[in-house]
Amino acid sequence: MVKTRTSYRCAECGAEAPRWLGRCPACESWGTLQERVAPARPAATDGRLRTGAPGSSGVPASIVDVDSGCADPMPTGVGELDRVLGGGLVPGSVTLLAGEPGMGKSTLLLQALGSMARHGTRCLLVTAEESCAQVRVRAERVGALAPELVVVAETSLPHVLAHVDAVGPSVLALDSIQTVVDPDQPGAPGSVSQVRDGAYRLVQLAKERALPTVMVGHVTKEGTLAGPRVLEHIVDTVLTFDGDRGHSLRLLRALKHRFGSTHELGLFEMGEGGLADVPDASARFLVDRRTGAIGSAIAGVLEGTRPLLVEVQSLVVESSVPRRTVTGVDPGRLGMLLAVLDQHHRLDLAKYEVYASVAGGLRVAEPGIDLALLLAIASARLRRPLAEGIVAVGEVGLGGEVRSVPQLERRLAEAARLGMVGALVPPGAPAVPGLPTFEVGDVDAAIARGLVDPRAASAA
Ligand code: TYD
Ligand code: MG
Repeated sequence: MVKTRTSYRCAECGAEAPRWLGRCPACESWGTLQERVAPARPAATDGRLRTGAPGSSGVPASIVDVDSGCADPMPTGVGELDRVLGGGLVPGSVTLLAGEPGMGKSTLLLQALGSMARHGTRCLLVTAEESCAQVRVRAERVGALAPELVVVAETSLPHVLAHVDAVGPSVLALDSIQTVVDPDQPGAPGSVSQVRDGAYRLVQLAKERALPTVMVGHVTKEGTLAGPRVLEHIVDTVLTFDGDRGHSLRLLRALKHRFGSTHELGLFEMGEGGLADVPDASARFLVDRRTGAIGSAIAGVLEGTRPLLVEVQSLVVESSVPRRTVTGVDPGRLGMLLAVLDQHHRLDLAKYEVYASVAGGLRVAEPGIDLALLLAIASARLRRPLAEGIVAVGEVGLGGEVRSVPQLERRLAEAARLGMVGALVPPGAPAVPGLPTFEVGDVDAAIARGLVDPRAASAA
């Protein structure tokens, strides 16, 4: 007799639990766990065990004998996308491209498919939101017209599977997963069960055929995938595409990536002809900078493996309400730096409203930005500009000391490449050709060295 076992699955996120719980431990939704009865695996009654390749399903093996099954990634030809993917799309992998409506997901997908198709890779694009004619117009605009790119307007999941059989693509793309439905299953298009079951079916297909699959998914304003957070669990890679609506800059990051790092940042500029790679990001971030401005400092930060120079700005105004407003920097970090400035440099910032931002629409969450941010605030508060052409790199500790950060040399090399004339660095920093460095051990030294002396300025 085949025994059955009972388990519970969350209707919201698909997580499983061995017993019923009022609240899903994975996504924290209330009352969403539902009982499901699954047949237990039949015991090997004859005492013989299954045989097969070491490490294949059900065959125990030493980890050193297990085949990693990792095939080389297939470059998409879109440089910044390949950077974030760590080379390209891995055969059999499923990638979710998530972002708010209007960010440019369909455009990015079309450009990637067009580029692969131009190199002879057969791609199938299932367009479930736009008509084929609309896709063609966009393809002309972004240079994605290629005979090997096959397009079909389709929303029915069984038909999608049939199209894959008929076309035999090497890459499959769906735009979007929320508008594909299985008419034989309950639930409206975009409902949790439809999206989850459709995605499961596509993941199976991708694995069976080693077919790299990309699905577009819309996220709501709150930043969650509309309805199905379950998608994040079942796909291999989740890419997020976002940016400031007022800016043309678009940022691509991997939120989850089973085949590589999640630290890489891809940068694009949305323009007339679609998305253009931004390979020289530092130059892009410094382009609008005014020289000699009060409250402005240049930081040498690291995004993934990418050294970037960014302008950090601050505005400090006297106010009865000591409000703190940040764009692109961590509010907790700002609070800490303000406390350090108060404590170690007596800047009395409790009487001031403080604004801090990273120019250009970038978000920086690493401590290498501390020193520049602190100098920008001190500059704004003391009304003294920073010395011209100086970059600041370093973490600031609670004791007001300036600390080293990872890959200092690469950050400084980037500063030298962009023509900076000097760098404020933590003690013990490496020398970099073409860039004089000034070691600053603490906040006082950094302010004394970094900000222009008012007497020197008036004498000039
Ligand atoms: P789209 O790819 O449709 O976004 P999503 O699929 O994420 O909803 O692109 C949305 C915006 O991009 C749209 O408002 C117009 C703009 N856009 C350009 O500026 N240039 C272009 O070449 C293209 C194709 C789109
Ligand atoms: Mg779209």
